[in-house]
Amino acid sequence: MSENLTYSLTGVATITSAAILGLLTLKYNDRAIFTERRDNIHSASGLPLFGIMFEQIAKKERFLDFFIEKMNETDNMTMYASSLGLPPKIMTIDPRNVEHVLKDNFSNYVKSKRSTDLLNDLFGHGIFAANGKQWYYQRKTASVIFNTNNFRNFFTVFVKELNVMSERIIDKAIERGEVIDFQSMIYKFTLETFVYLGFGKQLNALYNNVTVPFATSFDACQANCFQRLVSPIGRLREALSPILHPGEMTAKEHIQVIDDFAYNLIQERKVQLAQGHKYKDLLSQFMAARNPEGKELGDTELRDAVLNFIIAGRDTTAQTLTWTIYYLIMHPRVEAKLVSEIEKYISDEIEQDPPALYEMIKKMVYSHAVFYEVLRLEPVVPNSSKEALEDDVLPDGTHVYKGDQINWSSYAMGRSKKIWGNDAESFYPERWIQDGHLRRESPSKWPAFHGGPRICLGQNLATLEGLVALIILLKRYKFSLVSNQEVVYTMSLTHPIKNGLKVFVEKR
Ligand code: HEM
Ligand SMILES: *[C@@H]1O[C@H](CO)[C@@H](O)[C@H](O)[C@H]1NC(C)=O
Ligand SMILES: *[C@@H]1O[C@H](CO)[C@@H](O)[C@H](O)[C@H]1NC(C)=O
Ligand SMILES: *[C@@H]1O[C@H](CO)[C@@H](O)[C@H](O)[C@H]1NC(C)=O
Ligand SMILES: *[C@@H]1O[C@H](CO)[C@@H](O)[C@H](O)[C@H]1NC(C)=O
Ligand SMILES: *[C@@H]1O[C@H](CO)[C@@H](O)[C@H](O)[C@H]1NC(C)=O
Ligand SMILES: *[C@@H]1O[C@H](CO)[C@@H](O)[C@H](O)[C@H]1NC(C)=O
Repeated sequence: MSENLTYSLTGVATITSAAILGLLTLKYNDRAIFTERRDNIHSASGLPLFGIMFEQIAKKERFLDFFIEKMNETDNMTMYASSLGLPPKIMTIDPRNVEHVLKDNFSNYVKSKRSTDLLNDLFGHGIFAANGKQWYYQRKTASVIFNTNNFRNFFTVFVKELNVMSERIIDKAIERGEVIDFQSMIYKFTLETFVYLGFGKQLNALYNNVTVPFATSFDACQANCFQRLVSPIGRLREALSPILHPGEMTAKEHIQVIDDFAYNLIQERKVQLAQGHKYKDLLSQFMAARNPEGKELGDTELRDAVLNFIIAGRDTTAQTLTWTIYYLIMHPRVEAKLVSEIEKYISDEIEQDPPALYEMIKKMVYSHAVFYEVLRLEPVVPNSSKEALEDDVLPDGTHVYKGDQINWSSYAMGRSKKIWGNDAESFYPERWIQDGHLRRESPSKWPAFHGGPRICLGQNLATLEGLVALIILLKRYKFSLVSNQEVVYTMSLTHPIKNGLKVFVEKR
């Protein structure tokens, strides 16, 4: 009797749930459950109730091409994507919308808590994760060091380190007939130079060809910390990591190494300043600054400020150089043209005279075009997002509601025929040159460096550092690809090559 009742109750429950599920599926047939339908916007194809959730998870490693695939499904450059459990997203590659979000209606679009929380262990409250006043004072303070006078000094450091890299690593590899992982070598170069520009400290990582503990932990954090600490599974894995990976450092320990490094340098600097030494690096700039409360910066604020710059500059510049070497190897026509520009402008004397080198590089049109063209096809900050504070309408007519995420992808934009024409997918630096002059595209069409008030503060520095490295390396060496390696990106905050770039080097 009671058994029968249970059966019929279960039956009723099953039928009721099936009916509800059926109704929900009908209602949410084109989007994730409990998300609003949007008019006047193309919906990304997805599963009823779940939206694009499963597809996005399945294609996570190829996310940038997934974004293009979705865009390829329609003529519209903007679409609505819902995914179970996540805030609704508007995905766009329309330059007008990007310009609106980055510039014309800057104050309505902020870094979402969701995206900055992921970064907090490493980025703290530095410029990257900050909004409003916290962002503004850091931007103002830092912009002081990005001036021409300082660039000339920076060039001395760049040239010195490039010489060290040649002598201590590349020439030795040539002698021994060894292969070089270009990506890992160039990471040492950019880390060395940015730690120096930021903290006035030499790691001597290239000189000794070692990965210093700070660099190991820094890399580990960039790759893992945010995943390890933020996702629920990541936290569990992190808690179990002493058991699962005995002897390996935990994310917390890596953060500790970075903190010790930064705090020791800050203490050291305070002592030196008290003794009357003068510095021109980023750390001293921030030590002289006041925060929005009118107070001197505490050690944590100083740590965050300087580390953010190292993070901002180091991987991005190194990855751009790595992709550039790869594209040049794959496009001998472009390489030959670039090398002839280098031979024309850079004599052996100029090569060792940093201020003259700096002046000369500014004039090298084709070199710039190559650098920009690489950043069109392989923008090293490949996808981005902002959150709307209030309802708004985008220039293409799309309605935005408070709390919406607007996602755009420099990668998808760089490869879009609608934006760049039919040859969008070919590597063609000449597209940046008009009547012999460099013609840089607007940030809305080419947001590789972002745009508007938050445009990359280091864009000129990155371009010049990238170019001086490229020019000196290509003047001296010819690179070729080691066969049987897969050169593909991996998803990260930035855009690294998954397994590095193995190259043979010969003297030119
Ligand atoms: C090729 C190299 C680089 C590329 C492609 C690049 C690109 C970008 C992009 C896309 C952003 C916006 C990120 C976001 O808010 O979501 C950004 C911001 C920033 N970049 Fe770069 N960057 C490069 C190199 C550098 C270098 C060398 C530095 C400094 C040493 C630097 C300093 C910054 C800073 C401070 C910001 C934050 C600006 C703000 O929020 O006001 N970047 N960069
Ligand atoms: C998509 O684009 C077409 C033509 O550009 C336009 O007529 C249409 O309204 C757009 N919106 C949707 C939801 O498809
Ligand atoms: C998108 O479409 C273009 C053709 O317009 C094609 O060349 C490209 O491979 C497609 N990309 C993806 C990721 O589907
Ligand atoms: C959009 O941006 C948000 C926040 O950064 C991110 O969590 C989400 O995965 C992105 N989704 C897409 C489809 O770009
Ligand atoms: C530099 O270090 C890398 C990896 O740590 C090694 O593969 C390479 O052989 C070293 N090069 C020289 C010249 O010692
Ligand atoms: C870029 O895409 C990845 C993969 O979906 C996502 O995890 C990340 O949050 C996105 N980043 C931004 C800034 O939208
Ligand atoms: C910017 O966004 C606000 C909502 O915060 C909206 O009321 C306003 O019309 C928008 N301004 C422009 C120039 O589109």
